[in-house]
Amino acid sequence: MLKQKKITSEEDIELLKSHIENSSKGTKTFRYFEKRDFSVLQKHKITFLYFNNDECVGYGHLDTEEDNVWLGVIVFDGHNGMGYGKYIVKSLTNCYDGDILLSVDKDNSIALKIYKSLSFKIIKETEKLYIMKKSKKIKALVTGINGQDGSYLAELLINKNYEVWGTVKRNSVSETQSSRIENLRDNGLINLEYADLTDMASLISILSKVQPDEVYNLAAQSHVRVSFDQPIYTANVTGVGTLNLLEAVRMVSPHSKIYQASSSEMFGNTIDEDGYQRETTPMNPVSPYGCAKVFSYNICRNYRNAYGMKIWNGILFNHESPRRGTNFVTNKVVKAAVRISLGLQEKLHIGNLDASRDWGHAKDYVVAMWLMLQSEKPNDYVCATGVSHTVRDLCEYTFSKLGLDYKDYIVIDKKHFRPEELENLKGDSSKLKNDLGWVQEYTFETMLDEMINYWLKYYGK
Ligand code: NAP
Ligand code: GDD
Repeated sequence: MLKQKKITSEEDIELLKSHIENSSKGTKTFRYFEKRDFSVLQKHKITFLYFNNDECVGYGHLDTEEDNVWLGVIVFDGHNGMGYGKYIVKSLTNCYDGDILLSVDKDNSIALKIYKSLSFKIIKETEKLYIMKKSKKIKALVTGINGQDGSYLAELLINKNYEVWGTVKRNSVSETQSSRIENLRDNGLINLEYADLTDMASLISILSKVQPDEVYNLAAQSHVRVSFDQPIYTANVTGVGTLNLLEAVRMVSPHSKIYQASSSEMFGNTIDEDGYQRETTPMNPVSPYGCAKVFSYNICRNYRNAYGMKIWNGILFNHESPRRGTNFVTNKVVKAAVRISLGLQEKLHIGNLDASRDWGHAKDYVVAMWLMLQSEKPNDYVCATGVSHTVRDLCEYTFSKLGLDYKDYIVIDKKHFRPEELENLKGDSSKLKNDLGWVQEYTFETMLDEMINYWLKYYGK
């Protein structure tokens, strides 16, 4: 049974939060509450009671503001806005169609902290009160949730109080497959289902079950070099797979908004006169992967126009992190340089050092994905840093951070060259910044520093 407790320390806050999250004892409250006539409550500005088992543990009253917003003002043991929040939440959830409104005394900093940590947002201030609101949970489905971007996006959405669903494709080694999302999975923060973009029935099945508000299509065979080895597979997954998803949404969950993970690889070697690629730059892909992504990009635009579906294309330039697959060049170089610095490896076999890329951090880029789906009108947006570096720059920075000269360790290996190379990428994100207010936190250097530290820690340094 819950006991009331005066809140005086961080520990108490944690305790209260876990009561709020875990308690399932609020039902008596709204059974009692449902019997009440709201107009009577409003008139008397009184009173409903909160019970724990049969014991009354607090009370509150309803009030109105000028614009007729209902407010639940909660009083427990003399502490306005504090107490057994689950009861409050359950009662008010019942009242406001899933949106929960409450008020907190401005001088009650502890209550404010608690509700903020439970994803309540301040929507209004009066002289004495903060009016806070928590919207009913938005449901998101992320295909490829166990990939680099999927794992960061899942964390972002959980922090925004979403109900997060994700698809994983069957793999014989489940341990490594889930490594990026282990924490979320083991703490019950995400719901996982098997599905494959090439298996439309599996997509229909999960979409009908979840009926997501937002779908983030991140699943793909995403490696450009591999797409030359497996072009048909890549076209099936990265191209037709998107069409399978669109058809499935159209059939069973047409209200869902869709984010499509489009790519700067679609531009190929086309560059605008000022040296940048942007939304209007012509697309001339130079890899099976790029061609498949152009198909997906176009079919998304087609479904948007033909059926009025709410689909956004995010044209993202390269983005990396410690969670990046180690067969992509950034994490391959960083991991190898750290191993070399620790005497665990002698050489780094690498391909084209002259190619340049616009490298950002995946954590920043998943914010852009989310921002797109919150915008009014479906559209296409480039997401990039606007700064370009060569693979040589990448090697130089990383090895020198570890006190080494990259030239002493690299071996140029034909195996890592592509039959056709995309030489330069540099993106202009003005549209994303101006329309949606996207800002980037990381630079090329801070991102690499984070990756270097990750691998040093991994190897116990
Ligand atoms: P990633 O780490 O390779 O993740 C791809 C995800 O797709 C993984 O979860 C993978 O599962 C899953 N997947 C692969 N084949 C599938 C299939 N047939 N059906 C269902 N799921 C499948 O890629 P990322 O870096 O997170 O990128 C996310 C998306 O953005 C991709 O579509 C990528 O092409 C695109 N993109 C990435 C960048 C970038 O620089 N990172 C830039 C532009 C666009 P397994 O791990 O089990 O194989
Ligand atoms: N992977 C890899 N391995 N690339 C190498 C190597 C090597 O040993 N040596 C040189 N490179 C060069 C590649 O030729 C390429 O020019 C550049 O490094 C970057 O390669 P990747 O890190 O494999 O990324 P990508 O640019 O081909 O593709 C990534 O970015 C795209 C967006 O532009 C992927 O994440 C794609 O999914 C994404 O769409």
